[in-house]
Amino acid sequence: MSRHKIAILVGSLRKDSINRKIARSICAMEKERLDCLIVELGDLPLYNQEYDGSLDEPESYRRFRDEIAAADGVLFVTPEYNRGMPGVLKNAIDVGSRPYGHSVWNRKPAAIVSASPGGIGGFGANHQVRQSAVFLNMPVMQHPEAYLGRVGDDSFGKDGLLADGPLKDLVRSIAEAFADWVTLIEKSK
Ligand code: FNR
Repeated sequence: MSRHKIAILVGSLRKDSINRKIARSICAMEKERLDCLIVELGDLPLYNQEYDGSLDEPESYRRFRDEIAAADGVLFVTPEYNRGMPGVLKNAIDVGSRPYGHSVWNRKPAAIVSASPGGIGGFGANHQVRQSAVFLNMPVMQHPEAYLGRVGDDSFGKDGLLADGPLKDLVRSIAEAFADWVTLIEKSK
């Protein structure tokens, strides 16, 4: 079985990010079907439309766009900041969407996962990403919805991956559904 290349965007730059650990757990659970790359977002300067078509365009923009363009699917795993998506993630989405007519997001199957120590599980951030993904013509997985609440350091083992329990079971169902989703969209192309 061929593996799907997946670009993962983690909306947190924090080394010990729970969202980064969730992303790594999803990749470990579906390693037979998903070939994951966590794409660096922290080196992308704030997007400025004047960069489009300019020699001053940051080098990291090209690297980022190439990594997304090479992927079969995109997985967003993000915290919620002030009931929205973190700026670093929105900036990356904007960088990938331009220059006009050359968006790297177009028709890439996607899923959106949000995780938080809070009870709402990053619902607000999750749906902000979804709103942008709809505009960017990304077929976004509908179910299972992935608002992961009450996630903390104790949700993970020493290896940094999810420890056994209901959260791991839920994330496994999300990982399986995402691999199925990318396969389905690929077949329809
Ligand atoms: C937060 N946090 C947070 N949590 C939440 O559920 N809803 C929110 O609106 C916010 N807002 C918020 C703003 C800012 C600026 C910070 C730094 C944090 C808490 C957040 O969920 C928590 O710090 C997570 O651990 C961040 O995710 P990572 O970095 O662990 O992946």
